[in-house]
Amino acid sequence: VIEPEFLRRTRDGYDRTAASYAERFHNHVDGKPVDRAMLAAFAGLVAQGGNIRVADVGCGTGSTTGMLQNLGVEAFGIDLSPEMVRQARQHNPHLGFEVGSMTDLNASDGSLGGVCAWYSIIHIPDEHLLTVFVGFSRVLTAGGWLLVAFQVGDQPRILAEAFDQKVDLCFHRRQPEHVEALLAESGLRPYSRLVRAPDDDGLESTPHAYLIARKPL
Ligand SMILES: C[S@@+](CC[C@H](N)C(=O)[O-])C[C@H]1O[C@@H](n2cnc3c(N)ncnc32)[C@H](O)[C@@H]1O
Repeated sequence: VIEPEFLRRTRDGYDRTAASYAERFHNHVDGKPVDRAMLAAFAGLVAQGGNIRVADVGCGTGSTTGMLQNLGVEAFGIDLSPEMVRQARQHNPHLGFEVGSMTDLNASDGSLGGVCAWYSIIHIPDEHLLTVFVGFSRVLTAGGWLLVAFQVGDQPRILAEAFDQKVDLCFHRRQPEHVEALLAESGLRPYSRLVRAPDDDGLESTPHAYLIARKPL
């Protein structure tokens, strides 16, 4: 099987910058109460079901994996970048992390109560996004929940350099309605939608969207 080029570029970009990324961004959700509220809402919904196992897909350094665990679910992380997974293990030694891609999830059908993709579908090109959502739907149990976070917009942001390293990273921005339509097409039912304005932290330039969807019972 030949790996799509976008996966190679994304993995390479995060492998090169994982250590600096961890130093700068590991605590990035701490000062964001609205984002934390969406994580809490998602964990609360999952915790009401019988299956509280949650995959944090594209977990990076595992900041949200740790938060979800503290919110009462059983969280583990999956990331495309082995160096990010190494950082995640160092920052969360009590949690499980594995290398893998959301385009080909290594989890059994119906095995998870929740899937969280926190700013990670942003690296999936449009033509692959439906396949990714079909995969999320496959691994969720009936009544299971999905949380996705992403930047809102129409034009992708291309990054050629990060932390003094050459990278080739594409950050896809999308409209919440478009993402919800794809979720519905994949068999997931949109449940809630939060869009907030960019924070005044010098890092954000677009609104941010947080969508929760459910696999029907
Ligand atoms: C912007 S970072 C966000 C990391 C983390 N969720 C956070 O909020 O700190 C995007 C992460 O998604 C991962 N990623 C990108 N494409 C992926 C894929 N196809 N499968 C799994 N992880 C992926 C990257 O390696 C990177 O760690």
